[in-house]
Amino acid sequence: MGLLIKGGEIVTAESRFSGDIFIEDETISAIGPGLTAPPGTEVIDAAGKLIFPGFIDPHVHIHLPFMATFAKENHTAASQAALIGGTTTFIEMVCPSRKDDTLEGYHVWKNKAEGHSASDYAFHMAVTHYDAKTEAQLTEIVRDGTTSFKIFLSYKNFFGVDDEEMFHTLKLAAKLGVITTAHCENAELVGQLQQTLLAAGKTGPEWHEPSRPEAVEAEGTTRFATFVEQTGAAGYVVHLSCAPALRAAVEAKLRGVRLHVESVLPHFLLDKSYAERACVEGMKHIMSPPLRDRRNQPVLWSALKTGLIDTVGTDHCPFDTQQKLLGAKAFTEIPNGIPGIEDRVNLMYTHGVKRGGLDIHRFVDALSTRAAKLFGLYPRKGTIRVGSDADLVIYDTSYRGAISAATQHGINDYNGFEGFEIEGRPAVVTVRGKVQARDGAFVGEPGRGQFLRRTPNHGPQ
Ligand code: URP
Ligand code: ZN
Ligand code: ZN
Repeated sequence: MGLLIKGGEIVTAESRFSGDIFIEDETISAIGPGLTAPPGTEVIDAAGKLIFPGFIDPHVHIHLPFMATFAKENHTAASQAALIGGTTTFIEMVCPSRKDDTLEGYHVWKNKAEGHSASDYAFHMAVTHYDAKTEAQLTEIVRDGTTSFKIFLSYKNFFGVDDEEMFHTLKLAAKLGVITTAHCENAELVGQLQQTLLAAGKTGPEWHEPSRPEAVEAEGTTRFATFVEQTGAAGYVVHLSCAPALRAAVEAKLRGVRLHVESVLPHFLLDKSYAERACVEGMKHIMSPPLRDRRNQPVLWSALKTGLIDTVGTDHCPFDTQQKLLGAKAFTEIPNGIPGIEDRVNLMYTHGVKRGGLDIHRFVDALSTRAAKLFGLYPRKGTIRVGSDADLVIYDTSYRGAISAATQHGINDYNGFEGFEIEGRPAVVTVRGKVQARDGAFVGEPGRGQFLRRTPNHGPQ
């Protein structure tokens, strides 16, 4: 049975027009005014609503053994929360630790997701060590359709790689034509600063940011960009949080380095005063890179508007209140991460498009299209055109509400954006032509999500 969406205003990264969309066999088969459909077709009235391409979250953690615990998350809950919030595809970081086998790790993550995700999904493969087996294993993983890597310059001795390992990873990525994403903070400096602060009795969450100052992130970004440049690879800085790191990335872009930049929801809307709140309230807002001084936010917003920041992800990484309290005696033990998979689209629409002067096409580009292009999903995902997957978000701009842990669909017991107003939310969300969410509720088929196999798209230029 087909699906006909009538009378909405279609908004993509490039265009805005009124039209109907007809869907058959999971893909869009016609777009135009006054479409009619055969008997038996389900019809959705989208009059007065915007229709966006399904949004893509390029940076999430669901299964994650980290900091003496596991992220409080699973694929069933996270994917349904994502869909309710308009995210129809997420890209999860596969993060085995340094001591784990890379290929085994890849299969662990794939098995966790398979049959449980309601939204479509792909993976970034973290390279957490580089040994004699790595090239063959990563080649196999790329052949399986996972065509992006992840490296951590931070988290020494756990996920972190040294410069030699980064070099070999980037050389291999260039050879395979895949893009490498990177968490850019100088691990040595973070470790030394943490020890100095703890030794001075500075143990609370308010000391997390001073242990990873902006300069530490700028150094990591500069070093990653230099390695990308010297290896001829393509790079993508994840969760860039501050003006000095942005300057480092832009300098590299200006000299022609193939470097792309992601910033994530918390850094646009929250600042370090949240992490300075007493005890567990502060701990709820610990992530890395840390929430920054407020003066960075207008810089991030204007870089997003001009496209210097390419994409907006969440770095969704939930730990509940009990887990956060693992760091009650030392901020270095607080599990790092803030959830956001359900809230990214509504918060960025409200605080960007509605209230912040963010162009609506750039919004679609940053939250969907550009991630699809960078990560080899375009034009199957990230746009509305004949032949694309029918992943659509029929968006109700008249909705008014506020973010609250009491009404969220994730399994965590708090929401870092508690009380933030939203002006708009998805009325209907489809994945490959099937309605999966309506008006703040999951109404679809759990486990219907597909693993998206990609082909390398960052070959030599
Ligand atoms: O604090 C964060 N960002 N937690 C998740 C792991 C990472 O660094 O992305
Ligand atoms: Zn990170
Ligand atoms: Zn992350």
